[in-house]
This record gives sequence, structure tokens and C-alpha cells, in this order.
Amino acid sequence: MKALEVAGTIPVTRDLMSLTFDPTDTSVPAGETFLPRKLKGRLGLAAGLDKEARAVEGLHALGFGFLEIGTITPRPQPGNDKPRLWRITESREIRNRMGFNNSGVKAAKQRLRKLRSTPYGRSIVVGANIGKNKVTPNEDAPLDYEICARELAPLVDFLVINVSSPNTPGLRDLQSIETLRPIAEITLEAGRKAAKRDIPVFVKIAPDLADEDVAAVAQMTKELGLEGIVAANTTINHDEGPGGVSGPRLKQRTLNIVKQLRSLLDEAQTIIAVGGISTVEDALEYLNAGADLLEAFTAFIYEGPAWPGKINRGIAKRFIPHK
Ligand SMILES: Cc1cc2nc3c(=O)[nH]c(=O)nc-3n(C[C@H](O)[C@H](O)[C@H](O)COP(=O)(O)O)c2cc1C
Repeated sequence: MKALEVAGTIPVTRDLMSLTFDPTDTSVPAGETFLPRKLKGRLGLAAGLDKEARAVEGLHALGFGFLEIGTITPRPQPGNDKPRLWRITESREIRNRMGFNNSGVKAAKQRLRKLRSTPYGRSIVVGANIGKNKVTPNEDAPLDYEICARELAPLVDFLVINVSSPNTPGLRDLQSIETLRPIAEITLEAGRKAAKRDIPVFVKIAPDLADEDVAAVAQMTKELGLEGIVAANTTINHDEGPGGVSGPRLKQRTLNIVKQLRSLLDEAQTIIAVGGISTVEDALEYLNAGADLLEAFTAFIYEGPAWPGKINRGIAKRFIPHK
């Protein structure tokens, strides 16, 4: 990440990375997605790798179509004690209980300002995944999301309300509609006011939600005019130890959630599918199930720097858009 941070800000090394790993145009034109501008590719980077917007340019140069930074919380916090991150090498998966380690919204805002001060930085589609601080009680959670939305909306293309990480005690309880609705309303309102435009807002859900809870969240996004849903986060449905697991085992459940969401959401709403994408076939399965865009994290860790460009090239070659 440090190397990507440095190499990404120097035009010569950044161009070399693009030429090596992302040489062909895989872009999706404005109008084919929820964005008012061109997207470099349908596969983006999922939240949690660049939690603080440190290496946006470098990661983009490797071939990710867009990036979701975060999770960002209002105040800086260290996250959980180490060890908090493990590889499950046999199955090429990861288990983590990071706990939203990040330098807080003010620091993220400064980095995004710097990013947006250059033409290359402005060309990158960036979404901000926002959450609450560990010390914030759930009844005060809306204020944390409001602060993050207000500070970040002017600098990003979309916002993602994270209520699905397993490593902040009680966070996932916010997925119930009674608690989620005020958070979604305040995020929409604060984002719109700060950005002086309708900023697309997503909710990121857990793969462990029951079908009826997925349906309730979908219904709420329609009522409030949210852009859509990011499905899904890590799972706690495992016996590997504490934390959430990511990687291949997520695909089956998440694929079913995507199918369910496609049947429930308005056609104009957007589904971003994330969970266990390792091959072009995985990506196509999600897209053909109704996902509009994709994100990944774990396969990138195992496969390395050439992987995002390879998947985006495969998608550009083989996917016929359904909308
Ligand atoms: C180490 C690690 C940290 C993560 N941190 C976050 C986070 O801060 N916020 C979030 O919404 N998701 C986070 N995630 C979840 C990913 O964004 C993604 O939803 C999940 O890993 C499934 O995708 P994958 O199978 O491609 O990894 C994290 C995942 C990993 C492996």
C-alpha cells in the first residue's frame, strides 16, 4: 500500500503501472451506470483496503474501475488490538476483525481534497464508505453518519452507509429498518446539502441477513430514493475464529441476495455486488444475476497487481449489459 501510495502520485510511475496492468480501454460510458460520467470498468475495489484514501491513484492505475474508500468514522480510532487479520490460505480467504481503524473524517477529507486538486485525481470515481465510531452509542449513530456525509459528499461520487461490519459491537443491529431509516434520511439530506446536488447513497448489507430483512432494506431504499445496495459484507457464519470471513465462500449466498434484490428494486436503482469474485466467470455470474457493478478485495490480495485489469478486460469482452 505504501508503494502504491508513492508510485500513484508520480505521473511517470503511475503511467508505467497503467501501461503494464491496465493497457486497454474497458470503460463504461456515462448513462450506462448511475454515474453522470464515464466509469473505467465495472469492477471496483471494495471498502476496507484503502480505509483512508491513501493510495487511490495507485490502485486506480492497476486497473480498478472505481474505488470505495473507508470505512471512515467521524473521529480517528485505532481499531481492535492485533492480531486482527488472518489468511485462510487453503481456501484463499481472509478473516478480519479490524474494527474500523482509521484516521477520522477530517484527515480523509484532506487527502481527498489533495486528490481532487489534479486532473488525474478528479478523473477517478471514488465512493466513501461511512460508519460510526466504536464509542458512539447506537441511539446517537445518525449524527456520526451525518458528520461523515457532510464532510465527504462534496469530494466523492457516492456514499455507502455501512451498517454491516461485524467488528464494531452492535453495528449490524442498525440494519433493522427502525434504526436504518433515520440514518439513511440524515445521510441523504446532509450529503445533498453539502454537495449541492443529489449525491447517490447506498446501504451496504451483511450476507447473514435473512431474506425478509433484505426485502425490508430494499423497500426502504425505494421509499427514500436511495441509489441502491452494496451486497454484501463479510460473514460471521463460520467457525474459523473471531471476525468476518471474506472470499469464495461468500459467493453463493451473495449471488442469491443479488437475484432477490434485482426482483425487488426499481430498474433504475443500482446493485453493487461484492463477495468472492475471483474469476471473470464469477464476475459474469453476478452481472447476469442483475448486478450493475462489482467490487472485490480478497482475490486482489491473493492474485496481485495484474488481477483487477484482467477481470475488467474479461468483463468488457464478454458482458452484454441488460439495462
Ligand atoms: C481486511 C478487510 C477489511 C475490510 N474492511 C471493511 C470496511 O472497513 N468496511 C466495509 O464496508 N467492508 C470492509 N470489508 C469487506 C469488503 O469490503 C467486502 O465486502 C468483503 O471482503 C467481501 O468481498 P471479497 O470476498 O471480494 O473480499 C473488509 C474486508 C477485509 C478482508
